[in-house]
Amino acid sequence: MKQRVKGVFGHSKGKTDAIVLLNSVDPHLDMCFFYATGAENGLFEGSAAVLYPDGNCTIICSQLEHESASNTDCDIVTFSKKDEFLGAMRKALKGCGKIGFNPPEITQKAHQTLKDCAGKSKLVDVSEGLISARLVKDSVEIELMREACRIASEAAVEVKEHIRVGVPEYQIAAELCYIMQKKGAIGPAFETIVGSGPNSAEPHYHAGARKLKKGDFVLLDYGALYKRYRSDITRTYFLGKADARKREMYNVVLEAQRRALAQIKPGAKGGLAHEAAAKYIDSTKYKGKFIHGVGHSLGLATHDGSGLNPRIDVTLKPGMVFTVEPGVYVPGYGGVRIEDDVVVTKKGCELLTSAPKGLTEI
Ligand code: GLY
Ligand code: MN
Repeated sequence: MKQRVKGVFGHSKGKTDAIVLLNSVDPHLDMCFFYATGAENGLFEGSAAVLYPDGNCTIICSQLEHESASNTDCDIVTFSKKDEFLGAMRKALKGCGKIGFNPPEITQKAHQTLKDCAGKSKLVDVSEGLISARLVKDSVEIELMREACRIASEAAVEVKEHIRVGVPEYQIAAELCYIMQKKGAIGPAFETIVGSGPNSAEPHYHAGARKLKKGDFVLLDYGALYKRYRSDITRTYFLGKADARKREMYNVVLEAQRRALAQIKPGAKGGLAHEAAAKYIDSTKYKGKFIHGVGHSLGLATHDGSGLNPRIDVTLKPGMVFTVEPGVYVPGYGGVRIEDDVVVTKKGCELLTSAPKGLTEI
């Protein structure tokens, strides 16, 4: 992982002598810790990774995590008491004039601990450097994401046999997770969304007790967690025949996604993909019904730091991975979203998710 650690320093403005990534209690874990260390297993609560400009990294963790840490190429210092942790931190930071840290992912309490350990050293916000280093995935990361996407794509097909009249949404969510874990996922990438009928109009609905009815939209938005990396896919199916209105709605979203995908290429601003989808949707009767950005970066986190959105100034580069997920939402009636994951290539982008997305009636 030395290259990743060096990359983090390369992306960070202002020279620092060390960067500290400090975890608290789950879910307050900094994904940058796992990016820099490459630790595939382990929870690493209360642990620190201290990164140095030469690419070296020291993990300071409890005995509990020693085995997981030993599968990385980092130096390891274990502690059993808080005083030992503080001592190890002070030793690791000795002589460092400027220490980088990651304010968006550190708790107030951990920040105080870091300040105590840093003494007279200056603490510098390196969060932008960390995000930009993580945005361009290396080949190891892309392979893991391919696998996460394969699992989710296959699940989109296999779950169809469980989509039946009378089945509650939460049961379909459970089937999706079960299918994905049987295919090698550690678990779901985030809380699985199964929105049926009018519930499909709520973009961040979860999965409730509503039983599926004939004529429903069935919107599935879920992903696989594979070796800490995530996929994120949405398919909207129809239970029974889709009438003309539902077909039209579906085709508008499909075309919006096609137009957004065509804008994803190196050198392009990420916002162009959003504008292509939004402009098209706004030229139809669904004007104003597309109420979120067309995509977000994906990786160790589901929302991995950037997005395809005019409000975010990102220039696309090969190796960046984004979701592309236009949708239209009609409250009280239903919603359609179609989401795929893509990696930016030298010439354009490559789909990582492969589940069929032609209009599907079950
Ligand atoms: N898949 C949920 C989201 O992208 O927000
Ligand atoms: Mn998404």
